[in-house]
Amino acid sequence: MIQIKDNIYWVGKKDWEIRKFHGEEFSTHRGSTYNSYLIKDKKTALVDTVWTPFHREFIDNLEKNIDLKSIDLIVINHTEQDHCGSLPYLMEKIPDTPIYCSKNGAMLIKRHFHKEWNVNIVKTGDSIDLGDNKLVFVEMTMLHWPDSMATYVAGANVLLSNDAFGQHYASPYMFNDEVDQCELYQEAQKYYANILTPFSKLVKAKIKEISALSLPIEMIAPSHGIIWRDNPLQIVEKYDQWASDYHEGKVIVIYDSMWGATKKMALAIARGVERKGLGVKALSMGKYDKSDLMTEIFKSRGVIVGCSTVNNGIQGDAAAVLELIKCLKFKNKIGAAFGSYGWSGESVKIIEARLKEAGIEIALEGIRAQYTPSPDEIKSCEAFGEAFAEKI
Ligand code: FEO
Repeated sequence: MIQIKDNIYWVGKKDWEIRKFHGEEFSTHRGSTYNSYLIKDKKTALVDTVWTPFHREFIDNLEKNIDLKSIDLIVINHTEQDHCGSLPYLMEKIPDTPIYCSKNGAMLIKRHFHKEWNVNIVKTGDSIDLGDNKLVFVEMTMLHWPDSMATYVAGANVLLSNDAFGQHYASPYMFNDEVDQCELYQEAQKYYANILTPFSKLVKAKIKEISALSLPIEMIAPSHGIIWRDNPLQIVEKYDQWASDYHEGKVIVIYDSMWGATKKMALAIARGVERKGLGVKALSMGKYDKSDLMTEIFKSRGVIVGCSTVNNGIQGDAAAVLELIKCLKFKNKIGAAFGSYGWSGESVKIIEARLKEAGIEIALEGIRAQYTPSPDEIKSCEAFGEAFAEKI
């Protein structure tokens, strides 16, 4: 139990070993944490729990520090298993404790656990007096689940923001001023790019709504990673920037290649982009981590995608990456397609269709080469890269 401010304590779990999150979807190279908070006031409130596999450790730790029966209420900001997974085990010990959550949270608690607990629905502006502090609830619908909610601790002036402003980042330290800033921002941006990008419009609206409340915010304590205590609003400003159709003006060339011909095209296209003075990365969709790839796309203005034609279609990794791009609903990006083929040569048209479906404007008609590109075709690829760069 680590005191973070006044009578607020961190009672979470640092998960040093996790390398994939959301099943196998999201890479977590630096581990993660599941942050649960205890507010010990005249009343004691527990906000969120930890992921299911750590329920025993979580409850043992709580029991070492407090009598579980002294918990007057539990707030569930979000019912995804990484925050709510220990709830049923805790409720076995303190079955009558009231739970507070959003309306959708109540429905999802029922869907997840099928139990009859004392669940109470709260909405934005509702509050619970704990003594010196007051919990004020702010619904965060679709940031990133229908049930998501934040809890503001008035008195201590701490925003328990749940997933928002989090990072999959296990550190020996607790606070933003104690950690490597590059690591911190890399993880915060990857988290935003992979989880919050589809909801950017809502992020902007929510920031506006919360700013209008003029709440004094001395600390932002998310449910993953480190806690923002030094200039906590810096991450809110970053979110506002990231939610504004963000890019850094560079180009990414991503490719899948069966025998190296499409790779040759990719590298030639990248050379062309580079000649025009733009930053460019050429990355293999098969080899590069897909969550990191989405972060690179998030940072790019131009996305050029290429792969070989195989069985009248596209390669598997390219199909997976194009699906991820579509689901993340990136905005304000332009794209193009390329690829080598043997006889039928459908890949370029398929990639173009998938990019369009993902809302990425095709800036340039795609380029193909049969089998291995000739020296002239390599020159054409370089010219293609230059022409694409001109569109930016
Ligand atoms: Fe960290 Fe949406 O759960």
